[in-house]
Amino acid sequence: MNAPARGVAPLLEVRDLRVRFESAGETAARAVEGVSFTLARGETLGLVGESGCGKSLTALSIPRLVDEPPAQTSADSSILFRGEELVGASQQRLRQLRGAEIGFVFQEPMTSLNPVHRVGDQVAEALWTRGEVSRKQAKTIALELLDRVEFRDPRRAMRAYPHELSGGMRQRALIAMAVACEPSLLIADEPTTALDVTVQAQILELLASLQADTGLALLLISHDLAVVSQVADRVAVMYAGRIVETGTARQVFGSPRHPYTEGLLRAVPTIDGAGGSLAMIPGRVPRPDAWPSGCTFHPRCPYAWDRCETDEPDLREGATSSGWVGARCWLEDEPAKRSGTGYAEVDS
Ligand SMILES: Nc1ncnc2c1ncn2[C@@H]1O[C@H](COP(=O)(O)OP(=O)(O)OP(=O)(O)O)[C@@H](O)[C@H]1O
Ligand SMILES: [Mg+2]
Repeated sequence: MNAPARGVAPLLEVRDLRVRFESAGETAARAVEGVSFTLARGETLGLVGESGCGKSLTALSIPRLVDEPPAQTSADSSILFRGEELVGASQQRLRQLRGAEIGFVFQEPMTSLNPVHRVGDQVAEALWTRGEVSRKQAKTIALELLDRVEFRDPRRAMRAYPHELSGGMRQRALIAMAVACEPSLLIADEPTTALDVTVQAQILELLASLQADTGLALLLISHDLAVVSQVADRVAVMYAGRIVETGTARQVFGSPRHPYTEGLLRAVPTIDGAGGSLAMIPGRVPRPDAWPSGCTFHPRCPYAWDRCETDEPDLREGATSSGWVGARCWLEDEPAKRSGTGYAEVDS
């Protein structure tokens, strides 16, 4: 989902990622279906979509953290990280890459921190287990890292237990752990969701400054378009396990092509209240074992016509004056069908 490479290989190239859940006697549920995207060094890609659309599974698939039954990744899927194929890579190799090259901030901060160990020890552990520094050096670097992620009193944070920290501080500690070994790729799954807007803004600034300093590539996952619009260079919108729209942040947020993106944007509050009333898209994301026929979004789409119920559109991508864009929608063929009142019709 990028413009064709111009001589430089991307840092990460995900091709046709397919994840299913198999359970005995039941049809396999397709949770991620044919997801492809690339990420260049120093770039931020925002992965957005409502709850249950497959964002976390996509993210966890990159360092191969969802490859145990009942989850199954198709053998035809490809995840090239710095040119190395991770689908089918040995556990030993994956363990080397996780943390050292691919940092991960998990969606649930409390489950990623051990409640009975001091924060400083946990950050130091992330370094020390790599075997490249002594325990003492690891503690010194951990202190520097806590300073780097802007703890006002890093020494005190070193000694604190997770429950003694606020949500924002815990998220900073997790970011410190994730970037401890200076990875070239940081995957942050809803890093600001549990935080109030002020702390959220601080965390986003922190990620941006880490990125500016180290040139790391950031895959930022969020259901919150306002968050993604602040930091992403490019955006991929997911719906029911598929990418339905891609483009530069400016293009996707400024002139969305897919009705799903249009609906998501209508649900984002604006500071001046412009943009009409705040409205959710009617209905909900279908479960992986109950995807509708044709375009999976058609039951919720205000523009859907009979073709959308029966035929599944491909993601059509190409260069435009607003950059490289793509949408998985029949409106790409028949733009005149967008006429009418759109979502207002569904709301009334
Ligand atoms: N272990 C599992 N077994 C069966 N289905 C699962 C499993 N893990 C996830 N799923 C399903 O796969 C779909 C995608 O889940 P995923 O966690 O990737 O969504 P998400 O986009 O990250 O949502 P959220 O915004 O709530 O975090 C969901 O419908 C979820 O119920
Ligand atoms: Mg998730």
